[in-house]
Amino acid sequence: MEYVFIGGAWPYANGDLHLGRLSSLLPGDVLARYYRARGKKVLYVSGSDCHGTPIAVQAAKEGIEPQVIADRYHRQFIECFAKLGVSYDWYTRTDQAGHHHVVQEVFLALLRKGILYRKTVQQTYCETDHRFLPDRYVEGTCPVCGSTARGDQCDVCSTLLDPADLLDRTCKLCGNSPVERATEHYYFELSKFQEELTLYAQHATGWRDNAVQMTQRYFNEGLQDRAVTRDLDWGIEVPVQGFEEKKIYVWIEAVCGYLSASKQWANETGNRWEPYWIEGEGDVLAYYVHGKDNIPFHSVIWPALLRGVGDLHLPDRIISSEYMTLEGRKFSTSRNWAIWVPDMLQRYSADSIRYFLIANGPERRDTDFSWREFIYSHNGELLGAFGNLVNRTLAFIQKSFDAHVPAGHMDPTWREALEELYQQSGTGIEEARFKESLDLIFAHIRRANKYFDERKPWVQVKENRSACSDTLYTCTQIIANLANLLQPFIPFACDKIREFLSLKDPVWQWISVPDNQWIQNLELLFERIDIRQIEEETRLLSQQSF
Ligand code: MF3
Ligand code: ZN
Repeated sequence: MEYVFIGGAWPYANGDLHLGRLSSLLPGDVLARYYRARGKKVLYVSGSDCHGTPIAVQAAKEGIEPQVIADRYHRQFIECFAKLGVSYDWYTRTDQAGHHHVVQEVFLALLRKGILYRKTVQQTYCETDHRFLPDRYVEGTCPVCGSTARGDQCDVCSTLLDPADLLDRTCKLCGNSPVERATEHYYFELSKFQEELTLYAQHATGWRDNAVQMTQRYFNEGLQDRAVTRDLDWGIEVPVQGFEEKKIYVWIEAVCGYLSASKQWANETGNRWEPYWIEGEGDVLAYYVHGKDNIPFHSVIWPALLRGVGDLHLPDRIISSEYMTLEGRKFSTSRNWAIWVPDMLQRYSADSIRYFLIANGPERRDTDFSWREFIYSHNGELLGAFGNLVNRTLAFIQKSFDAHVPAGHMDPTWREALEELYQQSGTGIEEARFKESLDLIFAHIRRANKYFDERKPWVQVKENRSACSDTLYTCTQIIANLANLLQPFIPFACDKIREFLSLKDPVWQWISVPDNQWIQNLELLFERIDIRQIEEETRLLSQQSF
C-alpha cells in the first residue's frame, strides 16, 4: 500500500488532557512516524471535539460561553501535542466552518439516499429546568446490567443507551425525576447495515481484540436505528427547515471530522484527499486509534455513515486501548485523581512520558501508571541502558579519537541482528504491538552494552588500537540505527543523535555512518531523576485529589 491514513481520536475540549487519555492517543503517532520512515504517504489527522454536552456542561459550570471553553482547551491541546512531538499532519477543531460544512453535506447525502427518517418520540424533559435533557444529564439504572449509568452509554457493560432506556431516572441538574415529552428527530437507519457491516467486521484483520469482541456483541444484539439530532443549542445546525432549534448529535458529527480534516488538509497544503478516502483512488490502509469507550463509534457507526454516503474507505485497523489506571485506581477527573499532561510536561521530558506510556501501554489489558515505575523506567531503561550506550561510545570517540568515528569493521553478527530488528519491530508496529517492538529494541540495547563491556575498548585502546576502532565503529553504527528504530517512540532523543552524527531524516532500513565522521554537539540524552521525587510526586497527588 502506498497511502496510510491514521485517525486519532478527537479529545473533548472541556478540560485538561490527562495521562490516561494520552496513552490511548500516542500509538497513532508511533504509526505515523514509522510509516513516514518507510516512505509511505501518511495522513495523520485529529482535532478538538468542541461540541457536545461535556463542553456545554463545563461552560454552564463556569458561567461562560461554550466557545470560550473550546478555545481555551483547543489551544492547550495544541501546545501539549507539540511539546510531546505528536506529529499530526493536520490538527483541527469541530467548531469551524469547514467541518460544519462537511457534516451538513454528509447529513444531506444520507437524507437524499433515504437513510434518515423523521420520527416523533417521547424525550426526557425536565419540568424544573424547562428543557430537554441531553443524554448525559440523565442518570439512572442500566436496564442490561443494573449499574448506575448515564443516558448515552453504560460504562460498566458498554451498552449504548437512550435516556428513555434507563430505570429510576433523575435529572443531573436538579435531581428531580424528569418526564417524557414529544419532540421530532431524525433517525439514522443503522439497522439497514446489519448484514453488510457484519460481513465487513468478519473480514477485518488487525483490530484489537476488544474491538472485535465488542463489535460482535452489537451485531448479535442487532443494530438499532439511532437518533442523529438533539434538542440542544450548542452544536452543528440541522440543514433542514423546521429544525432550527436542534443540532446534529455530537458523535455523528465528530467522526465526520476524519473526513473534514482530510479535506481541509488537502485544501491548505495543495495535497489530494481523495486517495485516502475514495475507493479505487489510492491503495490505502486506514488506522483508527482511540480508547475502548470509543469503539462502537468507529467500528459500527462511522463505517455505516461512510457506506451510507457512498464509496468511502472504511476503517481497516481499529487500535482501541484498554484503560490506564493511576497508582492502582481509576483516573477520575472529578476527584482530581489524575496526572495532567501540561503539568507533567513542566517537570519531565516528552520522551520519558512517551517511553513509559508505550512500554506500559494498555494494549490488551488495563495497565497502571505509578510514579515509582515511571521514575525507575526512566533511570533504568532510558538513561541507564540507552543513554549510557550512546554516551559512553561517543564520549570515548571524542576523547580517544579526536571526535572522529574511527575507520573499522562492522561486526557482521550485529549487522545481521539489526537488519532483523528492523523487520521484527516494524511488523510489530504495523500490527499495533508497540510494547513488544519497544521491548525488542531495548533487548538489543542491553546486548550492545554487554558487547561494549566485553570488548573493553578502554583496554583495547592501549593494546590493540585497530580492535578498538572496530568496537567503536560497530557501536556507532548500532547507535545510528537505533536513532531510526526508536524514532517512532522517543523522537527527541533520536533527533539529538542525528545531530551528533549528522544523520539525515529517519528511514526504516540499515544505515551506516561513514569513517571519520565528526561528532558534534555531544551532550547527555537524559538526566537522572532523583528517586526522592517518587515520594514527593505521590504526596502531591494525594494532596491534590479529593
Ligand atoms: N471526543 C470523544 C471522546 O473524547 C472522542 C471522539 S473521537 C471522534 O471520547 F472520532 F469521534 F471524533
Ligand atoms: Zn432538572
